[in-house]
Amino acid sequence: LQETTLALIKPDAIQQMGQIINSVHCNGFVIKQLRMCQLTTQDAQTFYKAHSGKPFYGALTTFMSSGPCVAMELVAEDAIKRWRLLLGPTCTEKAKVIAPSSLRAQFGTDGTKNACHGSDSTETAKLELAFFFVDRTLGSCARMR
Ligand code: CMP
Repeated sequence: LQETTLALIKPDAIQQMGQIINSVHCNGFVIKQLRMCQLTTQDAQTFYKAHSGKPFYGALTTFMSSGPCVAMELVAEDAIKRWRLLLGPTCTEKAKVIAPSSLRAQFGTDGTKNACHGSDSTETAKLELAFFFVDRTLGSCARMR
């Protein structure tokens, strides 16, 4: 089953984006869209609204707006599950123990600053892709004529 997912390179891993994108290719994902952007605190709060009220929400949204992110639309067979498998466990320290070759083990910092994100379901992927990739249908072409 061909799937699409949202993959995010978080601010703590932005200097390793080359290695992370290389892993994306080596693991059979196709990048359909990619953009680099810096979220405002409000953007981060919206993106992570499912976590509002959790004790780490403030630290998470401050961190996610502290520098640029790279958002990618990845396409592959079973992309959602396979990207999360490549990420490893949410907590970097745990990832280093149980999945040392995972992206979070290699590039993460701690439980919150964990290098990358991946959508957790087809419904979430749809919402998260819409958040980063608004369909603009190359509207500027008309003005260039
Ligand atoms: P992510 O996969 O982007 O989804 C939610 C994020 O919240 C998660 O990665 C971490 O960055 C952060 N997070 C999740 N659980 C915790 C926790 N227990 N403590 C601190 N941060 C967390």
